[in-house]
Amino acid sequence: MKFSDEFLAELIERNDIVDVVSSYVNLNKKSGSYMFGLCPFHSEKTASFSVTPSKQIFYCYSCHKGGDVIHFIMEAENLSFPEAVEFLAKRVGMEIPREGMDETSKKRAVLLKLNKDAARFFNAQLNAPQGEGARDYMLSRGISRRVATNFGLGFAPQSWDALRRAMKEKGYSDYDMFEAGLLKKGQKGGFYDVFRNRLMFPIIDVRGDVIGFSGRILDDSGPKYMNSPESLVYNKSRNLFGLNLAKKSKEEYIILAEGNIDVVSLHQAGFDSAVASLGTALTPEQARLISHYKNQVIIAYDSDTAGMSAAKRAIGILEKLDVKVKVLRLEGAKDPDEYIKKKGPDAFRQLLSGSENQVDYRLRNVFEKYDLSIDEQKVEFLKEATDMLSRLPGSAERQVYAMRVASMTGLKDDAIINEVERRRKKLLSWNRKKFEKEQTRPVRQMQPEDRELRYENPQSAVAEEGIIRLLYLDPALASTPGLPEPEQFSSQVLRRIYALMRERIDRGEMLNNAALSAELSSSEMSLLVSILQRPEDLSMGSTALRDYINRIHEQNEFNTQTLDLRDLTEKLRKKKGV
Ligand code: UTP
Ligand code: MN
Repeated sequence: MKFSDEFLAELIERNDIVDVVSSYVNLNKKSGSYMFGLCPFHSEKTASFSVTPSKQIFYCYSCHKGGDVIHFIMEAENLSFPEAVEFLAKRVGMEIPREGMDETSKKRAVLLKLNKDAARFFNAQLNAPQGEGARDYMLSRGISRRVATNFGLGFAPQSWDALRRAMKEKGYSDYDMFEAGLLKKGQKGGFYDVFRNRLMFPIIDVRGDVIGFSGRILDDSGPKYMNSPESLVYNKSRNLFGLNLAKKSKEEYIILAEGNIDVVSLHQAGFDSAVASLGTALTPEQARLISHYKNQVIIAYDSDTAGMSAAKRAIGILEKLDVKVKVLRLEGAKDPDEYIKKKGPDAFRQLLSGSENQVDYRLRNVFEKYDLSIDEQKVEFLKEATDMLSRLPGSAERQVYAMRVASMTGLKDDAIINEVERRRKKLLSWNRKKFEKEQTRPVRQMQPEDRELRYENPQSAVAEEGIIRLLYLDPALASTPGLPEPEQFSSQVLRRIYALMRERIDRGEMLNNAALSAELSSSEMSLLVSILQRPEDLSMGSTALRDYINRIHEQNEFNTQTLDLRDLTEKLRKKKGV
């Protein structure tokens, strides 16, 4: 991972964090040097997400995510470090220095180009004489030429090396194609085409790059779909089939289907905001990706039990991100494709406008779990239903659904409404207490959010944090006599961060987030930012530093003393022959 320090520094300078964050978060000016807003990375009602313009960092006091502008983009856009750098460079029209690209970025660029060329090859095959079978298949599934073009569909011919030969001619190596998941290695060591005799769906990300393929078989001679394996450019849990087109839709909602065919068929029928989750259950990353474009999702999964339970899980994931969810019931059809074929686009449009919202849907699910003619079960139902309703943010909404529960159980409206509100109060006060407890946690107990980074010696760690903070603010302090060596730090993670900083200072290199962030993991970076976030008076810098240094030496002495003592007892024990 090597972008030059100068390049990263300029990138950060030109992408002011307030500007960048503002297109995702509504920031309000607050006291002092912070700005606050609702955290884009978790669901919340009170703002705990802060941006510190002077330090060009963000930090969420609630979910403890933090970092510089590059980390913000990594989180917000689901990108890797180099991808986020590319993103920000594009944003301000900066050229990425070619020699600055590390091996991995170069490899990625090659794989993306290869995928694009492969997609072109497959597409040409579809329109060539040998593509007749695939064209017939498309026709039989009602896919028009126009939609096929929009999706860049193609045909992988029935051959062991058609793609391989074509890409060889373009200068790609077997190994490139192997890494892209387009070739497999045979038992005798040779390579052969993965996709054969299949209708090809290129998987295109939101930036328009072809990152992988999904190929549907034309007959029943093997598994229905073959998919690209994960690669340097393809991560299936972070992408959705069709989102490259759906993100441009004028609709306010995304339609979430299961199958590639469903997506193509929906677009063809005029529902251009349909996507599918690439053969996996919806992942939190995919949900986050959706929420960047639309805040409403209509789930149109298959109508079998697998589809229903997948829908339930998807609701939970989407709701956490404050995305409104509705679920379609496709009566009389197994999936959206069949529904549209059987009943027509108008019927589907009607279904969309009438589709149940998630409260209805979940209430019905709870309702179906219990037999309300049995008293005990009725009580259980009431518990679960009122608990669920108490979590709805709108009071009107709570009332409406409380009344629904009343009519389901034959109880009085008021009784249910009161119960829901009682639970709501309890919930709020519990949340408030939890929040207050977090706020007043003594500094000494401040442990990193990530459990793997726990401090063994919190007393010493506070001082170690302080040294890191001061050094960051003023690298000149590195020449202070008596500054501890990294080995004297008690915490492993702080030792690593500190060693990195010292090395950079020694080499006369820059000490900014970007430079460090390339070398630290996300959780380490979040920790560093939370450390930098705490106030420090630089005018008192050298005094504070002395204080921190002394504390670390004290802790170290304390440790050696206890060690010595242990040594001594050990020796004594031996002497006595115990
Ligand atoms: P479906 O079997 O519903 O496929 O699987 P489909 O796209 O709707 O195709 P038709 O209408 O039955 O012909 C849904 C999705 O699950 C993944 C694919 O992404 C598919 O689109 N899948 C399915 C696989 O990855 N492998 C398989 O063998 C089957
Ligand atoms: Mn299907």
